[in-house]
Amino acid sequence: MSPDVEESPYTWSMAGRDGSRSTFTIAHLSDIHCGDPNFVPSLMERAIAEINELAPELVICSGDLTTFGFKQEYLEARQYLNMLDCERLVVIPGNHDSRNVGYIHFEEFFGDRHSVLHVDGVTVVAVDSSEPDLDHGQIGRARYSWIEEQFAAPADFRIFVMHHHLLPVPGTGRERNVVYDAGDVIECLQRAGVDLVLSGHKHVPYAWKLEEMFVVNTGTVSSLRLRGNTRPCYNVVEVSGNHVDVWRKYPFHGQEKIIQFSLETRAFEKYTARIENEVTTR
Ligand SMILES: [Fe+2]
Ligand SMILES: [Fe+2]
Repeated sequence: MSPDVEESPYTWSMAGRDGSRSTFTIAHLSDIHCGDPNFVPSLMERAIAEINELAPELVICSGDLTTFGFKQEYLEARQYLNMLDCERLVVIPGNHDSRNVGYIHFEEFFGDRHSVLHVDGVTVVAVDSSEPDLDHGQIGRARYSWIEEQFAAPADFRIFVMHHHLLPVPGTGRERNVVYDAGDVIECLQRAGVDLVLSGHKHVPYAWKLEEMFVVNTGTVSSLRLRGNTRPCYNVVEVSGNHVDVWRKYPFHGQEKIIQFSLETRAFEKYTARIENEVTTR
């Protein structure tokens, strides 16, 4: 995808919320991990089939496409993502993709490591939080003003995407997954008016609300690199007017809601007890 894509009014508009409840749908998948012995092709193929059936307006893939950043792993990931019917695809690298100078292959196969998408009323800014050969990540203070500029255009729904966590996620072990500069990034995103942050990384789906911002992780869509009793999954974000639902979908095995919230009042309900029980009580 080109780094900055402007689009004309589309089938969904926040402005039309007084009429029919048309829904803007985003499929968010992450941590494909091609090349890993725990990669399961049937999970990936099933998730793609389910997403194509859903026909979302946008697909976001938040990194760890590969396991070692090798070219052949990138090729495989590219071939899978080519199977998506959706014409709007936002992809960023994860820490695994930046191993072995893999970021070069990312740019070969997917283009810029940072991207901005404006689709009628929705702005998506996706940033590479990885560092070569490190599992830790950061956004970096040199990028804060750029991020704010990208979100400056009028929008009804602002989404920021990065691979690493912005907030700690329960059930992920010793904390080393939050970006180094999380405090500054949080303030940057708040200044930018971000509504929703999407991440992957530790393969544990979760949702937080922090002041006016919602922070939602998804798991690994297609690998058995799992922690505790978490399962392979991806998320679907459905926006209907001011109402947002986030669903966790298990390839072959249905779905359950993670969180719902209002963009107007910021009132929310989240449904994470099952995950917490899976991780902590068994
Ligand atoms: Fe991962
Ligand atoms: Fe990761």
